[in-house]
This record gives sequence, structure tokens and C-alpha cells, in this order.
Amino acid sequence: MLKKGLLAAAVIAFVTVFAIGGLQAGTDVADEFMMKSDYPHKKGIVKFTHKKHIDEYGATCGECHHDADNKPRNDLKMGDDVQKCIECHKKPGEVTKELKKEWKAKKVKKKEKDKLAREFHAEAVHDNCRTCHKAHNKKTKTKDAPTTCAKCHPKEG
Ligand code: HEC
Ligand code: HEC
Ligand code: HEC
Ligand code: HEC
Repeated sequence: MLKKGLLAAAVIAFVTVFAIGGLQAGTDVADEFMMKSDYPHKKGIVKFTHKKHIDEYGATCGECHHDADNKPRNDLKMGDDVQKCIECHKKPGEVTKELKKEWKAKKVKKKEKDKLAREFHAEAVHDNCRTCHKAHNKKTKTKDAPTTCAKCHPKEG
């Protein structure tokens, strides 16, 4: 039984160190990364240039990150704890065709529909990326920020 006790102590020590380390380190984020949330993907995996968006495109933390009340997190600093979009926009992928039909039949209003749609992860993410990209392109009269599927989702070869 001594062995079991030792193992338990080791586990507790490990978990404690991990938890404290986690608190001190906040959430790490790479300069760029593949967006591959934890559900099956139909489209090519998108590469997101996190650092470039901040340093070169001038986006502020709060333009993408917000709290549970949808208040922009402009107080964020690198090293703070940051939740993933999917922790709140929990449903995988995009809205299903069936659900779209149901909403149409029920005559759900556009604003309410958009909100229900954003419970789906890909809809919330698309809304965020595309709204800014469209505004940017309109303002600069360019197509610098991608708005079409294939510009973000590479063709799988
Ligand atoms: C243009 C949009 C955008 C901007 C601006 C932005 N982020 Fe992010 N950030 C993201 C996205 C998208 C993710 C990936 C989230 C996911 O996978 O759900 C992310 C991830 C993170 C993560 C890692 C989260 C995790 O659990 O893996 C941290 C930390 C982070 N961002 C901090 C910041 C800070 C601090 C700023 C401001 C200095 C900032 N971000 C600005 C979009 C942005
Ligand atoms: C802590 C929970 C939480 C996290 C994490 C979160 N959201 Fe949200 N988000 C919400 C809530 C609540 C709303 C308001 C309900 C709605 O309108 O969909 C919202 C609204 C939105 C909206 C609509 C904004 C508007 O005002 O028109 C977009 C777009 C969005 N989220 C994208 C994202 C993206 C992208 C991420 C990750 C970078 C993210 N959210 C992370 C909770 C969260
Ligand atoms: C607040 C504004 C804003 C938001 C939000 C935003 N972007 Fe962008 N993004 C830009 C701008 C501006 C450019 C174009 C910069 C240029 O080339 O002049 C850009 C360019 C890009 C590019 C092409 C260049 C590169 O760096 O790879 C990709 C891909 C991209 N964004 C992906 C995303 C994704 C994915 C999201 C959502 C998770 C997102 N962006 C959210 C502003 C934004
Ligand atoms: C600005 C970049 C951008 C554009 C434009 C874009 N997407 Fe996405 N899309 C993303 C990101 C980022 C995700 C989230 C992936 C993740 O975190 O797993 C996503 C997720 C998805 C998903 C869920 C994951 C999967 O592969 O099944 C689908 C489906 C999807 N997009 C389809 C489309 C279609 C169709 C279009 C064109 C009408 C489109 N996207 C345009 C960036 C983009």
C-alpha cells in the first residue's frame, strides 16, 4: 500500500506543479499556427498568422478575443490566460442544412438566426475573420484580406 501512497503523492505533486506553472505562464500562443479545432474537418486546414495580424495588420486583442458577455478583451497582454473560441462557440463546424430549413420554416429573424448560428464554431470564426477582412478591403479598395473559401482553406491534395 506504501507504493500506492507514493504514486498518489507523485501525481498530486505533478498536478500542483503543472497548475502553478500554467497560472504563471498563462496561455502560450505561437506566432502562426494551423486552426484545427477538435472536430472532424471537411475543408483544408487554415493557417493563421496571429503575430502578423497584431504587429503588421494592426488588429487589437479585443477585435478577436472577448469575454462571456461579448465584451472585447482589450485588456489582454501576451502571457494572459486566453480561452479558445470553441470553449464558448461549442457546436462543431457550420450550421447544418436541416437547422437552416427549420429556422426558415419558423421564420426566425435574421439577428436571432445569426446569433444561433454563432453557437457553431466555424460560423463564429468566419463572422470574426470575414467581417474585418471585408471592411479592410472596402476601405483600402483592395483584395488584400482573403474573403473566399479557397484563399483561407487550401485545397487538399
Ligand atoms: C485577428 C484576430 C486576433 C487578434 C488581433 C488577436 N488574437 Fe489571439 N487568437 C486568435 C485566434 C483565432 C486564436 C486561436 C483560438 C482558437 O484556437 O480557438 C488566438 C489564440 C490566442 C492565444 C492562445 C489560446 C489557446 O488557448 O491556445 C493567446 C494566448 C492569444 N490569442 C492572445 C492574444 C493577445 C494577448 C492578443 C493581443 C495582443 C491577441 N491574441 C490578438 C485571434 C486573434
Ligand atoms: C467566454 C466565452 C467566449 C469566448 C472564449 C469567445 N466567444 Fe465569441 N461570443 C461569446 C458570446 C456570449 C457572444 C454573444 C452572443 C452572440 O452574439 O453570438 C459572442 C459573440 C461573438 C461574435 C459576434 C460579435 C458581435 O458582436 O457581432 C463573434 C464574431 C464571435 N463571438 C467570435 C469569436 C471568436 C473568433 C472567438 C475566439 C477568438 C470567440 N468568439 C471566443 C462568447 C465567447
Ligand atoms: C481586425 C481585423 C482582422 C481580423 C479579425 C482578421 N484578420 Fe486576417 N487580415 C487582416 C488584414 C488587414 C489582412 C491583410 C493585410 C494585408 O495584406 O495588407 C489580413 C490577412 C489575412 C490573411 C492573408 C495574409 C496572411 O497573413 O496569411 C489570412 C490567411 C488571414 N488574414 C486569416 C484570418 C483568419 C483565419 C482570421 C480569423 C480567425 C482573421 N484573418 C481575422 C485583418 C483581420
Ligand atoms: C478568412 C479565412 C476563411 C475564409 C474566407 C473561409 N473560412 Fe472556413 N474556416 C476558417 C477558419 C479559421 C475555420 C476554423 C477551423 C478550426 O479552428 O478548426 C474555418 C472552419 C470552416 C469549416 C469547419 C471545419 C471543416 O473543415 O469542416 C467549414 C466547413 C468551413 N470553414 C467552410 C468554409 C467555406 C465553405 C468558405 C467559403 C464560403 C469558408 N470556409 C471561408 C477560415 C476561413
